[in-house]
Amino acid sequence: MNYVEIKAAAKEKMSVCKMCRTCNGETCRGWTPGPGGKGSGSSFVRNVSKLREITLNMRTLHADVDVDCGVTLFNTTLKAPIFAAPIANVPVNYGSSVSEADYLEALAKGCKDAGVLPFFGDGAAKEFFDLPLETMGRYGGYGIPTIKPWVNEIAIEKIKRALALNPVAIAMDVDAAGLVSLKKTPTPIAFKTLEDLKIIKEQIHVPFIIKGIMTVEDAEIALLAGADAILVSNHGGRVMDEGISTIEVLEEIVNFVAKRCLVLTDGGYRSGYDVFKALALGADGVLIGRPYSHAAIGGGSEGVSLYTRQLIGELEDAMRMTGCTTLGDIRRKTVNVRF
Ligand SMILES: Cc1cc2nc3c(=O)[nH]c(=O)nc-3n(C[C@H](O)[C@H](O)[C@H](O)COP(=O)(O)O)c2cc1C
Repeated sequence: MNYVEIKAAAKEKMSVCKMCRTCNGETCRGWTPGPGGKGSGSSFVRNVSKLREITLNMRTLHADVDVDCGVTLFNTTLKAPIFAAPIANVPVNYGSSVSEADYLEALAKGCKDAGVLPFFGDGAAKEFFDLPLETMGRYGGYGIPTIKPWVNEIAIEKIKRALALNPVAIAMDVDAAGLVSLKKTPTPIAFKTLEDLKIIKEQIHVPFIIKGIMTVEDAEIALLAGADAILVSNHGGRVMDEGISTIEVLEEIVNFVAKRCLVLTDGGYRSGYDVFKALALGADGVLIGRPYSHAAIGGGSEGVSLYTRQLIGELEDAMRMTGCTTLGDIRRKTVNVRF
């Protein structure tokens, strides 16, 4: 099975997602629930389009070198600083004939086999947290459960259940307070204050990742709360319309954080060349969302591994063609930013 066949198989198995040639948010504008961005869909579209405004600076006059994009993050040795993003309710959002349980199994196994880490999602229905935990349990806690910003009492209950599996880290997608679908459920979801986050952090003895940071102001609050990593993310454009893209705010946030915690990012990354761009702007790692779902739906765990190997191959190619031997060589001067 190759990647083209995996994409074709995914298209067959999805009735909502149209599996566009480039997953750029144009066709699915406003499809939430669904795979799209909120409202006009412009935040999703902008995530993808702004990445096209960064180009790589080719360097060929150097010795022939072996490149290595291996890294240790969250005490885990990875083949590359790449993660599968948390995505919940795949049958409804994609109109997929693959069940949530099978999707999660494909993601967990595929990521582990390929040497990268999966994040797992959460949702209003009980199964959207139970199933990821069951899946992670089968893989010895290999993964990062991402808990929604429920009111603290409920969030802490879920954190305790996740911690029992000894996960690599625990994340909270604080931006989910803006999710249309969760506004309609009876489970209380809330914006988080510094005090709320400090209480949550006290419960967590593994790295704590705050997902959904888009400004220096929120990065500062996350640091004060004791976050071990922040995730520069706008939830794939699903929580706020007319927002800026993640790549546009990444460098300012990286500079502000100044290595006081790790900085991850996501939103619109599709290839290893895209991953290279975020690393050049200072990110420690990149999450990829929708394309991993397509790979899992179309090709199961094999599809996830194959897509990951393709991403790593592209990242290595980008490194080789810009004269970078290790991740540490990927600096600002290896790219040209035109925004
Ligand atoms: C259908 C769908 C479901 C998602 N579910 C979750 C979730 O449960 N938790 C979460 O933190 N993010 C969720 N996200 C956001 C992703 O984790 C990620 O931030 C985003 O998809 C990255 O953008 P990309 O898909 O363009 O790569 C979801 C995204 C989609 C498209």
